[in-house]
Amino acid sequence: MKLEGASVAITGGASGLGLATARRLVKSGASVTLLDLSPTGAEAAAELGERARFVEADVTDAESFAAGLDVAEEAGGLRGVVHCAGAGRRMRVLEKDGTPGSLEDFEHVIRLNVTGSFNALRLGAERIARRDEVDGERGAIVLTASIAAYDGQIGQINYAAAKAAIVGMTLTAARDLSSRAIRVCTIAPGTIDTPLLGRLKPEVKAGLEASIPSPRRLGRPEEYAELAAHLLENGYVNGETIRLDGALRMAPR
Ligand SMILES: NC(=O)c1ccc[n+]([C@@H]2O[C@H](COP(=O)([O-])OP(=O)(O)OC[C@H]3O[C@@H](n4cnc5c(N)ncnc54)[C@H](O)[C@@H]3O)[C@@H](O)[C@H]2O)c1
Repeated sequence: MKLEGASVAITGGASGLGLATARRLVKSGASVTLLDLSPTGAEAAAELGERARFVEADVTDAESFAAGLDVAEEAGGLRGVVHCAGAGRRMRVLEKDGTPGSLEDFEHVIRLNVTGSFNALRLGAERIARRDEVDGERGAIVLTASIAAYDGQIGQINYAAAKAAIVGMTLTAARDLSSRAIRVCTIAPGTIDTPLLGRLKPEVKAGLEASIPSPRRLGRPEEYAELAAHLLENGYVNGETIRLDGALRMAPR
């Protein structure tokens, strides 16, 4: 897919990986619509210039999310979605005091990450399917999992389950949407330096860096953005999840 002139919706676009992707896509001549719960997305869009706009929307909500995607439709016909909205909430199967992990915390993270990704797929694809095919495709969707999908740590039972579900959806979604010539790929980031990790204590952050084989540092949001742009552009990558982690394999804690 050609980024120049394309309309791309970016969920979680107010911060971190989503905002870095928006910057990268605007540089390539795309028009971006940032969708986020956080109203700070308005300032972010203003800084990106006239090819960017912001809509306050919840990715788990059918109506507000559809309305946000319609704004991206009006901005030139949606061709791509980069879905970055998501988060975890620490919990264990049994908490330290022996009480069973909270069903509410489990379901909250599943709803945000899994239902949110499905909503991005179904409502994004509905709009992209209206486009004409160019070079054999109508558009592409990039989802965001995590390496916790493969090596979830203690305290990540809900997050690991949710991100593994996104990895599991990737090939099926690509197959479902093949008749519409819409590709689906997923990025599974390791430890990328965004506000999400900013909440970690400095010693925990330093420990994480020391455990990354090469390069021995946190990933940069721009490195995620570069891969997301490539996955939108490269018409032959489909149904695949790519780890972006400096060869990190997470230890149990
Ligand atoms: N940063 C990392 O190291 C890392 C590693 C693995 C996976 N990830 C995943 O990457 C994605 C982006 O993470 P980030 O580091 O950029 O985090 P971030 O906290 O900087 O940004 C996430 C954005 O999503 C928005 N958001 C949350 N819930 C939403 C909802 N229901 N509807 C709309 N917007 C919502 C937040 O307001 C925020 O702006 C997440 O799915 C996260 O799980 C991040």
